[in-house]
Amino acid sequence: MTSGAQADEGKAEGKVEDKVVEFYDNFTEVFRDIWGDNLHVGYWYDDSDEAGIETATDQLTDQLIARLAPQPGRRILDVGCGVGEPAFRLARSADVEVVGVSISSFQVGRASERAGEHGLAERVSFRHADAAELPFPDASFDGAWAFESLIHMPDKEKVLREIKRVLRPGSTLVLADMFSQPDTELTFQDIITTPEMAEYRAVIERAGLVVREFTDITANTIAPQPVREKLAADLLARKDDVIPMTGPEEFERMVDGVRVPRSYGYLLATVTTD
Ligand SMILES: C[S@@+](CC[C@H](N)C(=O)[O-])C[C@H]1O[C@@H](n2cnc3c(N)ncnc32)[C@H](O)[C@@H]1O
Repeated sequence: MTSGAQADEGKAEGKVEDKVVEFYDNFTEVFRDIWGDNLHVGYWYDDSDEAGIETATDQLTDQLIARLAPQPGRRILDVGCGVGEPAFRLARSADVEVVGVSISSFQVGRASERAGEHGLAERVSFRHADAAELPFPDASFDGAWAFESLIHMPDKEKVLREIKRVLRPGSTLVLADMFSQPDTELTFQDIITTPEMAEYRAVIERAGLVVREFTDITANTIAPQPVREKLAADLLARKDDVIPMTGPEEFERMVDGVRVPRSYGYLLATVTTD
């Protein structure tokens, strides 16, 4: 059985991609109101780090930037770019060009507007595309990241091969993603697929990529209690906007998952094309 077939097993009817588009086209702005412009989890350095969610999500971006460490003038692909916040932070940290893709046309529109607002439109651009079929020639990027986006792609091996295709030999790809643990209570099963950690690594290797670093950072992604309480309160305050997207049961699970440390693991991986 292929990884894709395994991943599709148990999914409700309908294409995952269509559901992801519907989710992000409709939910991105509400998500931003609650969470900020980074649509990913936070990173807390240690128990004394009391950063709020916006700072902590930037801190996770910094972990990826440090791993990618691009040289000036390089062209970097951001796979699953959200509204562009990580791409802007990367472009400010290094003199590079960044091209972001998202399957949500709404996000691409917002990210493009924001590039102008941030004065970065000459170096940071966004395209509407499915990561499984990137609209770029072979070997046209010097590096890439997929920042909490493979989570939405059931056939990760196919997407990783596609990213590898557009990277020049010797390029680095940084991955940040959730993974399942034995006690994980699965949520948003229609739009997320999370292998266990060992399987995740195996998928990367099957795609022909070389794993240089594979780190479980779950402990750093668990928000301090006051941050979790504030997020839960903010979510409850936007209940009427969120429930149409999630349904009432998923909403309850979402609030619970924010209140108590969630059971998903989180990994950072640095891989190279050869
Ligand atoms: C959790 S958000 C992360 C966004 C961004 N990386 C960030 O950290 O702010 C997941 C992103 O992956 C994108 N995505 C999901 N499936 C995709 C696909 N098949 N092709 C391209 N983008 C996809 C979503 O549209 C969204 O932008």
